[in-house]
Amino acid sequence: MTQPLLAVEGLAVALRTDHGLARILDDVALTIPPGGSLGVVGESGCGKSTLLRAILGILPKGATTPSGRIRFQGRDLLAGADWARGRIGFVPQDPYLSLNPVFRAGDQILEIMRRHAPGSRADHRRKLVELFRAVQLPEPAAALDKYPHQFSGGQRQRLLIAAALACDPALLIADEPTTALDVTTQREILGLLKRLVAERGLGLLFVTHDFGVLATLCDRVAVLYAGQVAELGPTRAVLDTPWHPYTRLLLACHPDRATTLAGIPGTVPAATAQPSGCRFHPRCPLAQPACAAAPPALLALGERAVACPRHEVPFG
Ligand SMILES: Nc1ncnc2c1ncn2[C@@H]1O[C@H](COP(=O)(O)OP(=O)(O)OP(=O)(O)O)[C@@H](O)[C@H]1O
Ligand SMILES: [Mg+2]
Repeated sequence: MTQPLLAVEGLAVALRTDHGLARILDDVALTIPPGGSLGVVGESGCGKSTLLRAILGILPKGATTPSGRIRFQGRDLLAGADWARGRIGFVPQDPYLSLNPVFRAGDQILEIMRRHAPGSRADHRRKLVELFRAVQLPEPAAALDKYPHQFSGGQRQRLLIAAALACDPALLIADEPTTALDVTTQREILGLLKRLVAERGLGLLFVTHDFGVLATLCDRVAVLYAGQVAELGPTRAVLDTPWHPYTRLLLACHPDRATTLAGIPGTVPAATAQPSGCRFHPRCPLAQPACAAAPPALLALGERAVACPRHEVPFG
């Protein structure tokens, strides 16, 4: 078996807060093979961004990782992630907040390349113009000397994709990279990401709320609920026959599929007040007393895994 590009094993992330210990992630496990793509879905507050931050080595101050490992290209990132900078490209959520307004866009990316990519400044400038062309920025050579405010939102997101690719990463991580953009621009940016990832053989870890986007971009999906993996498997299989009651409800209230405006009753628990047993049991239509007593194991079934022993029971 080839070595996974990224392997997260038994990862826990905790944070001491004024309201007690926040258990933000618990026993999270997932892998991405070289060139593979994994989408992460789940309601707001389920821990998606925290998972990405743990991998990128940028957890909030005071956060700890009481257990688990994150291996990238076989090496542990939790022991120090500096060596991996540049090899993991990150496309953030909001292109408006992610560039410093007082420096030229090109200089900001060239600075990243100076620190993490081999070659001279002239090499880097040449390469960046090529990248600007690849992300379809108008007038790529002139774009190097412009300031962030001289680009539109969609163009800024293209700049950030170029920045994420500047040091030839093997893995691209994106946290809902198109939510700040209009629908047409969203579609263009997603098409661009899909093409660049395929052309360059990159691994992709992609957080999204949108199952349509998930189906287009990711071969596998991990459904997170309250900091734990509820379900994991090939995207097509999970979307066609979701197993975990949470995935079933999440899909049922997606705008493309919903027949009513009803959402999932209740809310995601605060990370400082996780319920006992299965964390979804207070909201689950299939819950039984046993579900509150002990957390369910993640059952592996072929290419899929689900953290619910009642995954075959239909809703009543
Ligand atoms: N710096 C922090 N201090 C305290 N709690 C935090 C901090 N960062 C995250 N959390 C808590 O951790 C949980 C997960 O947050 P996270 O941002 O990872 O969720 P998310 O799935 O990315 O949500 P969204 O879809 O809204 O972006 C939430 O309960 C959140 O309140
Ligand atoms: Mg988030």
